[in-house]
Amino acid sequence: MAELVLVIGRADIDAMVAAMARQISFDYQDSEPVLVGVLKGAFIFLADLVRRLTIPVEIDFIGVSSYGADTRSSGDIRLTKGLTIDIENKDVLVVEDMVDSGLTLAWLMNHLKAFNPNSVKVCVFVDKRERRRERVRIDYACHTVDNGFLVGYGLDYAEKYRNLPGIYHLKF
Ligand code: IMP
Ligand code: MG
Repeated sequence: MAELVLVIGRADIDAMVAAMARQISFDYQDSEPVLVGVLKGAFIFLADLVRRLTIPVEIDFIGVSSYGADTRSSGDIRLTKGLTIDIENKDVLVVEDMVDSGLTLAWLMNHLKAFNPNSVKVCVFVDKRERRRERVRIDYACHTVDNGFLVGYGLDYAEKYRNLPGIYHLKF
């Protein structure tokens, strides 16, 4: 049986998201960015983050998949849902639940740049560094870990555990 060990509780998540929202609101005070949530994992983080922002924003979602039911990225990345907002000349902020190998984010940055946005920055809830294979720039991160498979707060294992309010280490 897999075991769940709490890594970040709900109150700490709230404080981290609030701090990030303050920084983003400050950095984008002269802009009206388009926040692009990466489905499905970022849905809870995005929902919490945008309600804390004090600047006007537009919100869109993009869908990419690469994992299947495995715990590591296959590198074979597919678009499952495209943007509906035109991001040309807009400031785009990608909202991701987690960056691990960086393969998904590198692919996504490339994909978004083809629409000629004014800028593209990235915020992630968890920056997981040990398996990084693509050098990707992360502008905002709430939490950094070296390794371990995490679930909850949007993160899944084979589509389960996304609804847990905290972040847990899933030990197999
Ligand atoms: P990457 O392409 O390896 O950087 O991984 C991209 C995506 O895989 C992330 O956006 C997550 O949705 C998912 N992922 C990576 N690590 C984990 C994890 O520890 N738990 C759950 N999902 C993960
Ligand atoms: Mg993701």
